[in-house]
Amino acid sequence: MYQIYPRSFSEGTLVGISSRLDYLQWLGVDALWLSPIFLSPMADGGYDVADYCAIDPQFGTLADFDALLSEVHARGMRLLLDWVPNHTSDQHPWFRESRRDRVNAKADWYVWRDQPTNNWLASFPRGEKAWAFDEQRGQYYLRCFLKEQPDLNWDNPEVVAAMLDTLRFWLDRGVDGFRMDVVHLLGKDLNLNDPPICEERVWGHVPYNDQPTTHQHLRTIRSLLDEYSALAVGEVYLLDEQAMTTYHGAGDELHLCFNFRFLWAPFEADELRSRIARTIEVLRDGGAWPTWVLSNHDVPRHRQRYGGDELHARMAAIMLLTLPGTPFLYQGEELGLVDAKIAPADMIDPGGRDGCRAPIPWNEVARQREHPNSILAFYQRLLRLRRATPALHAAGIDNDSFRLFDGSPGLLAWERSDGDAHWFTYINPSDEPQVCSAAMQGATIVVCTDEALEGTMVGAEMPAGVAWVAHNSGTM
Ligand code: NOJ
Repeated sequence: MYQIYPRSFSEGTLVGISSRLDYLQWLGVDALWLSPIFLSPMADGGYDVADYCAIDPQFGTLADFDALLSEVHARGMRLLLDWVPNHTSDQHPWFRESRRDRVNAKADWYVWRDQPTNNWLASFPRGEKAWAFDEQRGQYYLRCFLKEQPDLNWDNPEVVAAMLDTLRFWLDRGVDGFRMDVVHLLGKDLNLNDPPICEERVWGHVPYNDQPTTHQHLRTIRSLLDEYSALAVGEVYLLDEQAMTTYHGAGDELHLCFNFRFLWAPFEADELRSRIARTIEVLRDGGAWPTWVLSNHDVPRHRQRYGGDELHARMAAIMLLTLPGTPFLYQGEELGLVDAKIAPADMIDPGGRDGCRAPIPWNEVARQREHPNSILAFYQRLLRLRRATPALHAAGIDNDSFRLFDGSPGLLAWERSDGDAHWFTYINPSDEPQVCSAAMQGATIVVCTDEALEGTMVGAEMPAGVAWVAHNSGTM
């Protein structure tokens, strides 16, 4: 899957995106996820929706959208939209009505109280209370993000019905699924306080935003999606693999959940190994399918987080594209981009995330396409290999199909099997050579960060600062 942040992808429009589909097809991605394109005052880059069933004019028209969708489908790709169910814009007609007084038809569509009933803090601006006072209605409303993003009241069945209608609108037009914004927040227990920040709080689940009613809502949403065979990918920002995996339900909630604990792991073999092991363990027990994502529009780009050099970015690409599960690429990572440097006066995002949202440099794309050794060509080769190799795109996470090697410290390695075909990924980010396990010796290196090693056989030792994918039998 390939994430597009529409404002900065190509001309900032849907027509611009359509004009790049040949590139995306050449790159070899299967599906596109567009960050929000709905009508919005853009207080939070479109995650503040004023009409879920209209395209914001800055991106184009509904006709442009329909054209994009059919061009995506004509290329055999799928299109996912970004659905923002936890909150609307304060400019949404629902909120404008709701804030008018305490008796209007939408009075209970948002979370209103005479006083803040808990100590919750908003995500941004950091440190502000999650309750904002509204002069007009003379009450406080809950807003877990900006004050321009009031939280919807999902305990109100009318809200649930209205939000399902917004999904139906796009499903009827033919979209293939949705990325669902902060879905773990839908159910809320306002009586719970936010616990103090501590190690467990940071990496564990936050009880006030991980409530049983959320699962009920997800089951309702899933039954609607099932009518259309559409996909639900959830932004479940819980930083704990066990908590995350409960959002798949018994196969009746989300199809896929983003794995943020993995995203935040340093690029270091031992930590990555334990994150991967933990992810596979909990998902295997729950019968669910993993996702792997390193960059998106909310976090510094991973090349930057990993120290900035291209070698680590290439190693990360090998990891991302050969793990079992669905990988997500964020626009521009295939070019090895780091964050853009943006002067404080030019920042427009209230969360300070402008650096990873800078425009895609299309001249750089053209330059890298000409060079078979570019990082772009490297991504393309990996994607092509992945598509052509069932062991890499279809083999599951059961013990017969996926084996993570305990290995020596400093070496991250696994094997994926499909019948007689065995594929090995070895990543050695350390400064020391590593010993290769007997199982992989004799395998042929197919893609490697050191291209001189491609086509050679794996020996007893692996050099420092190298990653490769190798296979030892079966068909490619
Ligand atoms: C998560 C989105 O990815 C982020 O960009 C946004 O600011 C928040 N949710 C609020 O919608």
